[in-house]
Amino acid sequence: MPEKLAEKIEVDLVLEAIYKRHGYDFRNYARSSLMRRLHYVRQKSSLKRLSDMIPLVLYDEAFANQLLLDISVTVTEMFRDPEFFVELRSLVIPLLKTYPFVKIWHAGCATGEEVYSMAVLLEEEGFYDRVQIYATDMNQESLTTAEEGIYPLESIRKFTKNYQKSGGKSSFSDYYHAKYQMGKMKEDLKRNIVFSQHNLATDNAFGEMHLIICRNVLIYFDKQLQNQVYQLFNQSLVPRGFLCLGSKESIEFSDIQSQYEALSSKWRIFRKQLPL
Ligand SMILES: C[S@@+](CC[C@H](N)C(=O)[O-])C[C@H]1O[C@@H](n2cnc3c(N)ncnc32)[C@H](O)[C@@H]1O
Repeated sequence: MPEKLAEKIEVDLVLEAIYKRHGYDFRNYARSSLMRRLHYVRQKSSLKRLSDMIPLVLYDEAFANQLLLDISVTVTEMFRDPEFFVELRSLVIPLLKTYPFVKIWHAGCATGEEVYSMAVLLEEEGFYDRVQIYATDMNQESLTTAEEGIYPLESIRKFTKNYQKSGGKSSFSDYYHAKYQMGKMKEDLKRNIVFSQHNLATDNAFGEMHLIICRNVLIYFDKQLQNQVYQLFNQSLVPRGFLCLGSKESIEFSDIQSQYEALSSKWRIFRKQLPL
């Protein structure tokens, strides 16, 4: 059997084992980057073949948890792509401000930096008290870090630069307490955030959202899963609601494209149109 086909079967079996044993569905993730991450884990664990992971996935809880972390990329930062936040402030926030109450869903929020960025922005725009933020990720460990809101000062320095470029109106140091080389986000910023576990591949829609932000998540999915998730977002958004994606993600060629207008093509900000 050609090596490549054998390896494809191995990957299928590993992903099937993860799904059947732990309920995490990576079967429709884009294969090339998933493969790189699986090989990274294989080497790190000194395994000869990818399929040697199967018994570990089934019987070794610690291995399985680490594997889940290693194959889901959790890289993030505050005010990531500062220009996106500039656009959000000028194009979306003034419209949202006209609503009596606003619900925002951050899907795939990782360790929470993006969510705190939003809380800071809404606070500065003076209407955070009328907003409820739902911050979700499939990864419980990331969510725990998100809820704690403690980040290394080294990262905070980068966040501060991004904040300034994003149109921040204050000093970023107003939003955290520094202690022992770490910065803890001020408790008050969390007052309207609910963190909860949600898997975009297997769980249901969230109702009546005015804004959905899902950046740098769908990039890891294949076309079929991307489409499935776009349908989920479409069901979750109110008419005239906003959808924000990452800079390398787009609804172009998706089944929902015709129902959306682009407010910022560069920064992937879309608005759901009223049904005809
Ligand atoms: C690269 S991070 C993006 C974080 C943040 N949105 C940003 O742009 O900085 C990708 C996140 O997507 C999450 N993720 C991957 N697959 C997911 C799924 N099926 N359901 C929910 N979250 C998922 C990962 O756990 C990870 O935290």
